[in-house]
Amino acid sequence: MILYFTGTNNSKYAAELLGDYLQDEVVRIIDLIKQKKFTLNSEKPYIIVAPIYCYRFPILVEDYLKDCTFLGNQEVYCIGTMQSQSGKSGKVLKNIFETKGMNYKGFTGIRMPNNYYIMSRKKAPHPFANQITMDKAELMLALTAEDIENHKKIRKDDFSPFPYLCSYVINPLFVKYQPKFKVNDNCIQCGKCVNECPVENISMIDGKITFHNQCIQCLRCIHQCPAKAINLKKTEGIERYTCIDYKKK
Ligand SMILES: Cc1cc2nc3c(=O)[nH]c(=O)nc-3n(C[C@H](O)[C@H](O)[C@H](O)COP(=O)(O)O)c2cc1C
Repeated sequence: MILYFTGTNNSKYAAELLGDYLQDEVVRIIDLIKQKKFTLNSEKPYIIVAPIYCYRFPILVEDYLKDCTFLGNQEVYCIGTMQSQSGKSGKVLKNIFETKGMNYKGFTGIRMPNNYYIMSRKKAPHPFANQITMDKAELMLALTAEDIENHKKIRKDDFSPFPYLCSYVINPLFVKYQPKFKVNDNCIQCGKCVNECPVENISMIDGKITFHNQCIQCLRCIHQCPAKAINLKKTEGIERYTCIDYKKK
């Protein structure tokens, strides 16, 4: 069973590619949380796919994995999609699964197009550069799928400076931070952000888009807004990003 979380669909793409290769079912963690489904059963190994946010899996994913009971096959693989650095994500996940007595088979980080450029008034990566990144990602995912099929361990091969500091000190500060989104006059009140927010952090109140205090900073609202109306400090006018659809491809 392949479980995934995504903000801008990179991890969805990765999960669906793995599902195709391994002929396994692909399930959205958000749907399981909404259905309050905390007991799973799978004949095949569990594969968890999620983006890296500040050197760890999103807190919502870590919490779900801690709360969940995994029946059936006890092998578990973790795959982070990321720009380049996963810190000690693998160690955190190893602890979660070994506490449950499961057979933790490793973590690997797959480099995919970065969706965080938006915080620093940078230009979106050129589509051609993203295409090259995606081509490499596909290769790495196929090799990882082969390892999983052969029940081999998988390994992290990225390097982060000060990984303990990043994953165990900076990440908890990042998790507490609530970004201050602004909605400009381009908003067409289509409600897409309300529907797309994975943690129901956005509401339309009296015709105004309103943010609450449960944001996990996936940036889906910014990237999916058809009018580019949702912004953080430096995002006005910057290109948005959403990964291509694996199935349509
Ligand atoms: C809030 C946030 C924090 C991020 N932190 C990291 C990071 O620590 N290391 C990294 O390599 N990439 C980081 N990224 C980039 C994403 O992990 C990467 O683009 C990922 O593939 C996005 O996956 P998704 O499309 O499934 O959401 C971050 C992205 C966001 C939105």
